[in-house]
Amino acid sequence: MNALSNEVPTSIKRLEGKVAIITGGASGFGESTARLYARHGAKVIIADVQDDLGQSLCRDLNLPDQISYIHCDVTSDIDIRNVVDYAISRHHVQQRYAGIPGNLDFAIAESDNDNFKRVFEVNVYGSFLGAKHAARVMIPARKGVILFTSSIASVVSGESPHSYAVSKHAVVGMMKNLCVELGQYGIRVNCISPCAVATPLLTASMGVDREVVEGIICASANLKGVVPTAEDVAEAALFLGGDESKFVSGLNLLVDGGYSTTNQSYSREIKSAFGSSAPVISYIKLLFLVQ
Ligand SMILES: NC(=O)c1ccc[n+]([C@@H]2O[C@H](COP(=O)([O-])OP(=O)(O)OC[C@H]3O[C@@H](n4cnc5c(N)ncnc54)[C@H](O)[C@@H]3O)[C@@H](O)[C@H]2O)c1
Repeated sequence: MNALSNEVPTSIKRLEGKVAIITGGASGFGESTARLYARHGAKVIIADVQDDLGQSLCRDLNLPDQISYIHCDVTSDIDIRNVVDYAISRHHVQQRYAGIPGNLDFAIAESDNDNFKRVFEVNVYGSFLGAKHAARVMIPARKGVILFTSSIASVVSGESPHSYAVSKHAVVGMMKNLCVELGQYGIRVNCISPCAVATPLLTASMGVDREVVEGIICASANLKGVVPTAEDVAEAALFLGGDESKFVSGLNLLVDGGYSTTNQSYSREIKSAFGSSAPVISYIKLLFLVQ
């Protein structure tokens, strides 16, 4: 008996025959993606530095022929090389979740230099190493998928610490450049950019319970009536890792319920100035439109 609830019928398993390395796979988005990929028939290698968590996830999934854990620090060339060599396959998906938020360095003049370097080491250099070794085995196979994780911080500025925001822009830049280089080999390169989701990364960096974080996320969300979860990000990864997206490359897929398409501060100011009387607000909006 394994822990894959909602077993997917064999006929519609979307990742059968694929091998996926999921760095940062022990927690948060990585864990949800490992569970979903396993349900869809992929062989999954969970690569992380949290050995106890990664091993307990494997025990929970209880699919020893399909799921394995390997210790891998994404900032170590040797660790990344080993995990890729361990996974060599003609149908290789590399999914990169490993990331850190770093310190809350919102004020540039007081920013800590070592923190900036460390955030870049994990989020950017780690992505570079992962892509480099994945490409090493994917180019001769002439297929594969590299999937990075950036963040809504790559398109919405000022809401994340400086080091984090800059690192996430860099990940999108790397994704786009690699998409161009590797397209000739049939390798797709994409990126997922989630909005805030109450994973261990976010709850720990905010220092509050999951319910509090989810309350803030839902109150500020554009799309109402949905609490964003790590499973929503995993579903995006299933699409981009599978053959349903076989002609999608170079995409930074935002999983944010439309948050990044809008800026609600103007409407909020109008409401706070004039109350929520709809006719008044519509009239003022109209005035601005005709100006
Ligand atoms: N949670 C959010 O709100 C949010 C939003 C946008 C983007 N992201 C990004 O999504 C990714 C995953 O975040 P999460 O929320 O699932 O966080 P998480 O902390 O739950 O999981 C991240 C995993 O990465 C691993 N990791 C950290 N450093 C590593 C290293 N050097 N080598 C190997 N593994 C390492 C951690 O051990 C952890 O298991 C990160 O890149 C993060 O920046 C998160």
